Amino acid sequence: MEAVLSPVRTKEDLLFEDSLRPRSFEEFIGQETVKSNLKIFIKAAQKRDEHLDHVLLYGPPGLGKTSLAYLIAKEMGVGIKPTSGPVIERTGDLSAILSNLQQKEILFIDEIHRLHPSVEEILYSAMEDFRLDIIIGQGPSARSHKLHLKKFTMIGATTRAGRITPPLRGRFGIIHRLDYYKKEDLTKIIKRSSSILKVSIDDSGAGQIALRSRGTPRVANRLLRRVRDYADVKGTGKITAKEATNALDMMEVDSLGLDEVDRKILLTIIENFNGGPVGINTIAAAIDEEKDTIESIYEPFLMRIGFLERTIRGRKVTSKAYKHLGLLSTSSQQKLFKE
Ligand SMILES: Nc1ncnc2c1ncn2[C@@H]1O[C@H](COP(=O)(O)OP(=O)(O)OP(=O)(O)O)[C@@H](O)[C@H]1O
Ligand SMILES: [Mg+2]
Repeated sequence: MEAVLSPVRTKEDLLFEDSLRPRSFEEFIGQETVKSNLKIFIKAAQKRDEHLDHVLLYGPPGLGKTSLAYLIAKEMGVGIKPTSGPVIERTGDLSAILSNLQQKEILFIDEIHRLHPSVEEILYSAMEDFRLDIIIGQGPSARSHKLHLKKFTMIGATTRAGRITPPLRGRFGIIHRLDYYKKEDLTKIIKRSSSILKVSIDDSGAGQIALRSRGTPRVANRLLRRVRDYADVKGTGKITAKEATNALDMMEVDSLGLDEVDRKILLTIIENFNGGPVGINTIAAAIDEEKDTIESIYEPFLMRIGFLERTIRGRKVTSKAYKHLGLLSTSSQQKLFKE
């Protein structure tokens, strides 16, 4: 079973992402606190006829960071120039982008934690004072020039907030974390996507897909497309709870949306390290997976559903996870032994 549960964007997602992307704040479901805060800041900026303060959005993949960046631009009625951290290779590239920005325009930098340090340094004065310091010439004849920029808005997005250096982080006035979605919100997202894709689905069918979507709209939309295929071929074409459950079972989608890697992480800690605590580096080495991927994609979800705990001595599997995996935890084994 390949990427069906991965929160990371696949090629197939790309084909649908544009049409499914929310077109207004009203269509952007859930994340109420983030939305209402942003709306207030946008209104205030518009009232003053000024640029919006710089915005940093962070959280696991597929939760709507890019969608929100575009919505902010739309609501502000300004243009948006998208780029991403690793794409900007030289300071000159960034200087060119910055000096072409219009008043209030938005520069969206995805994966902002992956900016080259020398490129990042240019951003400091650009974000704070709307000024570029350029050195022209070399050696003793080198002279520093100041270039004034229009008052733009920078929106940064990242799955790794911890990787952002303090000086960069400090230059964002508005910082929001996107969290995993509740079942009710995912159900609404699935129903909205169904109407765009012209899929007929009832509330309970959407609810079943929501349960297995790892709290992630991108996964929900992908599962919806797969279940639709199943219903088209095997069923009546309408997705009900029964239809959805059958399809998801057939695709071997776990009842909580756990995938192979989640299970591998949990089982390795249980079988090799007696349930933990065990350090993240040891886990990464044991399952041959990048530490970064575990920390940004798998761990947040496992913690969110209460399967993994973070202690000072490392990660620990909870009894809830043992139960889901059909295993007895060490403490319940001991209890049985005593009885
Ligand atoms: N709140 C929402 N309401 C409706 N649909 C949403 C919402 N959030 C995300 N989506 C859907 O999920 C898809 C993925 O969202 P988006 O690309 O904005 O995520 P992201 O956080 O930028 O992910 P990544 O970290 O991989 O860049 C969008 O195309 C959109 O269809
Ligand atoms: Mg994105």
